[in-house]
Amino acid sequence: MAAAETIPYRWYADPDVLRRERELIFARTWQYAGRAEQVAAPGSYLATDAGGVPVLVTRDGEGVLRAFVNVCRHRGAVLVDGCGERATIQCHYHAWTYALDGTLRSAPRAEREAGFEPAALSLLPASVGTWGPFLFVNPDAGAPPLEEHLGGLPDLLARDLDLDGLVYHSRVEFGADANWKIVVENFLECYHCPVAHPSFSEDVDVHPDRYLLEAHPTFGAQFATAKRTGERGQFHLLYPNTGINVFPGPPNLSIGPMLPAGPARTERYLDYFFGADVDEEWIRGFFAFDDQVGREDRVLVESVQRGTASGLVDRGRLLVSSEPLLAAFQGWVESQLQADA
Ligand code: FES
Ligand SMILES: [Fe+2]
Repeated sequence: MAAAETIPYRWYADPDVLRRERELIFARTWQYAGRAEQVAAPGSYLATDAGGVPVLVTRDGEGVLRAFVNVCRHRGAVLVDGCGERATIQCHYHAWTYALDGTLRSAPRAEREAGFEPAALSLLPASVGTWGPFLFVNPDAGAPPLEEHLGGLPDLLARDLDLDGLVYHSRVEFGADANWKIVVENFLECYHCPVAHPSFSEDVDVHPDRYLLEAHPTFGAQFATAKRTGERGQFHLLYPNTGINVFPGPPNLSIGPMLPAGPARTERYLDYFFGADVDEEWIRGFFAFDDQVGREDRVLVESVQRGTASGLVDRGRLLVSSEPLLAAFQGWVESQLQADA
């Protein structure tokens, strides 16, 4: 790939590319899974989706936090959904029952079966980690620790925000008919802001000399200031698919994944947090603003999906001065897909 060219447009529509991304990216990278407090209590569990891999996080009676592939060792049912508290994990299909440490405790009629060895049928382990109020999983049990993947991100964020002072507010779910990489790439530049986000560009200084972009090894960072107040905001994409937004203003943060749900569909959610004394009135206005920007972006990414899927144009031409984070992300994706090609 020449530095100024995009990845092939075919990669945004090809089911085979998505299959390789699931295997070489999503099955082996750290992804946002929910809130740490959801699995804070002994005996709690949380089911989540790591880019198509169902993952189960548990905290056992002794307080040990673990993650597993959320797939029954019998016939492959997804074991549980949602989150809550329970003493064991029982499959809803034939009631195989696992302890919160993943070991198979009982399987109805197993005593009638010669050579049945429960010890060989524990849930497959995955990796789990927390960063402040955030929970992350990696389907790869042998993954390097989360801290390594986060790199310098926690320090950058701490410049403008105290994570421990945040209070969870709500989750918003949405989606777009576009490949997950198109959604990520839309998030990685503000070149489109003056054109497509009039309300955002009214508040935030989107001039290329003052809206700053930094490519880091595992994430793309963007730094913005409010035109009127000079307050600072940050927008980050932790590879491969976790978005983090801190808008200028009172303490606020939203975080969530961009999940591939087929080559041309991305499902998203954002968990919103605010400072303890941010007033509801401000929060209502903030949601209206954020929703507006989100609707504008949805039109853009769905348009790119239709255009790139036309099949008649091979690649695009990036502006490396305005889109360095896209170039970095695309280079990262390309290197992951070549890992054991
Ligand atoms: S698939 Fe889980 S018990 Fe049969
Ligand atoms: Fe946008």
